[in-house]
Amino acid sequence: MHFTFTAYTISVLSFIFYGHLTLPLVSAATLPGNQHDCNSHSKRLPSATWYQPDDHPVHQLFKRGPSAGTDGVPYAQVGSPAWSAAYPQSTPDANQLPELWVDALNSATAQGKIPGFAPSTPTDGNPVYPDGVDPLGNDVCSTTYKCRSDPDNIYDAPDGVMGISFDDGPLPSSSTKLYEFLQANKQRATHFFIGVNILQNPNEFMMAFETLQDDIAVHTWTHPHMTTLSNMDVLAQLGWTMEIIHNSTGGRLPKYWRPPFGDSDNRVNAIAKEVFGLKTIIWNQDTEDWSLSTNGTTSQQINASMTTWLTGPKVPGLNILEHELTDDTVQMFIDAWPVIKENGWNTISVAEMDGGAPYQNSPSSSGNVQPAANIVRPFVSVAQPSSTSSSSSSSSSSVPSSLTSATSTAGTTTSSSIAQSLTDTVISTSTGPNPSSSTSASQSQTTSSASRGTYWSWCSTLAIVVPSLWVLS
Ligand SMILES: *[C@@H]1O[C@H](CO)[C@@H](O)[C@H](O)[C@H]1NC(C)=O
Ligand SMILES: *[C@@H]1O[C@H](CO)[C@@H](O)[C@H](O)[C@H]1NC(C)=O
Ligand SMILES: *[C@@H]1O[C@H](CO)[C@@H](O)[C@H](O)[C@H]1NC(C)=O
Repeated sequence: MHFTFTAYTISVLSFIFYGHLTLPLVSAATLPGNQHDCNSHSKRLPSATWYQPDDHPVHQLFKRGPSAGTDGVPYAQVGSPAWSAAYPQSTPDANQLPELWVDALNSATAQGKIPGFAPSTPTDGNPVYPDGVDPLGNDVCSTTYKCRSDPDNIYDAPDGVMGISFDDGPLPSSSTKLYEFLQANKQRATHFFIGVNILQNPNEFMMAFETLQDDIAVHTWTHPHMTTLSNMDVLAQLGWTMEIIHNSTGGRLPKYWRPPFGDSDNRVNAIAKEVFGLKTIIWNQDTEDWSLSTNGTTSQQINASMTTWLTGPKVPGLNILEHELTDDTVQMFIDAWPVIKENGWNTISVAEMDGGAPYQNSPSSSGNVQPAANIVRPFVSVAQPSSTSSSSSSSSSSVPSSLTSATSTAGTTTSSSIAQSLTDTVISTSTGPNPSSSTSASQSQTTSSASRGTYWSWCSTLAIVVPSLWVLS
């Protein structure tokens, strides 16, 4: 990467150290050109049924009219200016969401399917719940606090299996390095992609989806702590990532999402499941490879952890959190590969760990796509609390207004063209009391959340800002 020290660089650095940066606009015209034509996927007759039942609202949300294209719909070419301009360029504005998504959330809320407890608040880099809200209780079950009682969530891999997945892509350099390695070793993986990174790196996206035919999954639009967000902001983070993947894969709807920082709870999971049909995947081991670039860990420490796990018992299997964030994090996976193979691990993607189909309406990145329009039963809408609430955050009635305003986005213009301040989602980098430390008796999700705040400033910088630098420099 050609790196020029400019006023822009200084603002990036000041963001890292002081938490202030307005994300610069990267115009669609500066995006790398795309060689791939999304409409070129072969069209085959639908065969599989949808992951969610026919009356699940997700079918209605992404239902499209019949036309020409992979699922019967023409989509803007991935990487084209028209494609890019249709999405939020940074933190999505919860007041600018498709009405169908808001209606589906309201409907699920009215049916009592979305728990009503308040969001957590970022405190010393960790999400902290209001007094009286027990993060380890069955109502909340926060994954940050290592609650594992939600039977729908996936943590472990089956015995003898190592689930292969990577977070935070697609990115220039590191993703390409990873994809070349995966291709050479014929290894399928699941990629939990960040929406804005897809937007800024369409070529790497198409390489994962089309060349590798890997599984594309959701890692939210801008990588926030999801439990700190209002219902409407959760809707925005998941919805736009679903939309860009759906519209960039010939109509495939992701089936899995992984919460950034592993931070989710029953409220966030319920929105993911009830509105978008998504299943939550966490992990059971964490090398903290993302902190290599901040000296949080070292390659020696990662090597030692990986060696212990890979040469240890195979019950349960390994679902290790790994990142395609930098060349160094990718190198750690490449270094471990011979040890993985020597020890006889069955390496499959995390979607394969759960049955195989990475999408709700398609068995793979190259297989049949079930067009929603062909199979959806008429959507039976539940009486809405108010049909006028589509643009109001008051529809998330369980959220105290103080929290809503603290976490909602500051956009005042259209969602497709704003350079919004990211400071509204920046979480303090100081390492204060770590709520996880009081929960050591609970099960063995091995994330340390003490350094997650630090990760936020680096991850957001690397994952969101650095791609801009590539473009600008
Ligand atoms: C996704 O594709 C559908 C069908 O072509 C279209 O109606 C919708 O506007 C697209 N969404 C975006 C954000 O481009
Ligand atoms: C990490 O440590 C190295 C060696 O001590 C040092 O040169 C580098 O600046 C450190 N990086 C960060 C981000 O602190
Ligand atoms: C650890 O490092 C050694 C020496 O570079 C290497 O041979 C080995 O494959 C590494 N193991 C893992 C699990 O990364």
